[in-house]
Amino acid sequence: MEEIKLTTTIKVYHYDELSTEERRLTEAAKEATKRSYSPYSHFSVGAAVLLEDGTIVTGTNQENVAYPSGLCAERTALFYANSQYPDLAVKALAIAAGATSSEEVISPCGACRQVMVETENRFQCFLKVLLCGADKVYVAESAADLLPLSFHFPS
Ligand code: THU
Repeated sequence: MEEIKLTTTIKVYHYDELSTEERRLTEAAKEATKRSYSPYSHFSVGAAVLLEDGTIVTGTNQENVAYPSGLCAERTALFYANSQYPDLAVKALAIAAGATSSEEVISPCGACRQVMVETENRFQCFLKVLLCGADKVYVAESAADLLPLSFHFPS
């Protein structure tokens, strides 16, 4: 038997340690939570995507009475950005939750992580992921750090 250990690094920042551009991105994600459509879970999520030219695109979770038809904030933002600006690489993605009562950061679901990895592969550059908490921000330098062994067609 062989064992493979998979390790990942997450950097923990205070908001005042982020670059101006990154802080702007986290603020856009927080602001976006106000536009969430979440009448079923009452859990509002906002995502903000930074494109290579500095453009910021936001998205929110969009729920549906047929529950699986809804979409997370991260995929709403990424799909919108990639549809609207297919030639601009996505450099960073910030995710925030409306309810900031807990100290915990919001952590993206597996499906969103897979889409983030696809974006990274598509543009051949790292996608930095910022997970916003009340006082702290968890930063993964690459989306792949959040999804080891992501799906790909076997070569
Ligand atoms: N949600 C997101 O928008 N992003 C995530 O990463 C996890 C969950 C949404 C989906 C649903 O509208 C609500 O949060 C509760 O699961």
